[in-house]
Amino acid sequence: MTENKVNAPETAKEAVFFQSNAEDLKNRSVVKGYDFNEGLDYGKLFESYKNTGFQASAVGNAIDEINKMIQWRLSDEPLAEGEEDDGLRGQTRCKIFLGYTSNLVSSGIRDIIKYLVQHSMVDVIVSTAGGIEEDFIKCLAPTYMGDFALKGQELRRKGLNRIGNLLVPNDNYCKFEDWIMPILDKMVEEQKTNGTLWTPSRVINRLGKEINHEDSIYYWAWKNNIPVYCPALTDGSIGDMMYFHSYNTPGLVLDTINDIRAINNHAVYAKKSGVIILGGGVIKHHICNANLFRNGSDFCVFLNTANEFDGSDSGARPDEAVSWGKIKLDAKPVKIYAEASIVFPILVAETFAKTFKQKSKQELEMNKRPIFD
Ligand SMILES: NC(=O)c1ccc[n+]([C@@H]2O[C@H](COP(=O)([O-])OP(=O)(O)OC[C@H]3O[C@@H](n4cnc5c(N)ncnc54)[C@H](O)[C@@H]3O)[C@@H](O)[C@H]2O)c1
Repeated sequence: MTENKVNAPETAKEAVFFQSNAEDLKNRSVVKGYDFNEGLDYGKLFESYKNTGFQASAVGNAIDEINKMIQWRLSDEPLAEGEEDDGLRGQTRCKIFLGYTSNLVSSGIRDIIKYLVQHSMVDVIVSTAGGIEEDFIKCLAPTYMGDFALKGQELRRKGLNRIGNLLVPNDNYCKFEDWIMPILDKMVEEQKTNGTLWTPSRVINRLGKEINHEDSIYYWAWKNNIPVYCPALTDGSIGDMMYFHSYNTPGLVLDTINDIRAINNHAVYAKKSGVIILGGGVIKHHICNANLFRNGSDFCVFLNTANEFDGSDSGARPDEAVSWGKIKLDAKPVKIYAEASIVFPILVAETFAKTFKQKSKQELEMNKRPIFD
């Protein structure tokens, strides 16, 4: 019997074996993951992320972006026309804005943020009210591991509040009340007798001084003169306390205009600006908006779980911020789609912690504007 051989249609062959343009691939990295046969080396493992693909690549690119923020010096740039070399250009650094949502302070990420602030690794901080009070509350009483599945009804009856899979006993807020009320009394008194104008950042600075506890982010922010902005300071337990306090000792005034001026000027006067934003909402927009006043940040890392299909600012990719002038046109911003408690420790390990070198006193002075204008 003779075999009846029929060739595959030419059009199908052409469609499947269409030739690639090798020129386009010339400068591209090859996808390659980590080889555990070479032993367990976390540094090399994280280095391999860049060429692993998907969100691992975003983490790898973010590591590079943050290292650029850390390494940049004004002396890397040519002198501008008419500018004279004052000999200090080698010590003038990129101003790093760090923003994080409240829940991250409830979580163990608080301790990593504390490390950054303790060693003056970041220059300007923005958080929401929970991100302020949870830090102080943790100095008074612990937060416990719980479970996402614990029942609200049962927890309520037991006086336990749930944040994801964390538990905060109600007693912690009672302790917070006992601690903060006398401080609010003093603030009202100072406002009335000395004319002190309290802004959210001044309140946080004062609370950082009063807590006097080395575990606290804001103790170190006070000690190292790092400003902390929180435009919605009243949207948390701290606001509840201010509500009750206003009945006993009325009169405390919080001025947000001085704070918006201060954070915007931090961006305006920065020689270079880098932003690292964990999560979305107010903290993300507040930092990006401040950077609009300098025509955009130079370096940028967003780390959040939000998507853009709903038009939210939380989910907006960096490119949307470029369109508003909040990130520079020639910047190479990175967005990581991930949950921050997994990824932020890796980012810090591969950047700030890896290259840690205590800044000189002169460098610290030079790179700060006065904490309050
Ligand atoms: N512990 C708390 O969470 C807490 C406590 C008291 C008050 N509050 C108040 O609740 C309000 C809303 O909180 P918020 O503005 O801080 O943020 P949020 O919790 O509303 O989060 C905003 C967005 O950030 C992203 N995000 C949040 N957590 C993330 C994570 N772990 N990893 C990656 N992306 C993440 C998500 O896209 C989310 O939609 C604030 O006014 C705050 O003061 C929160």
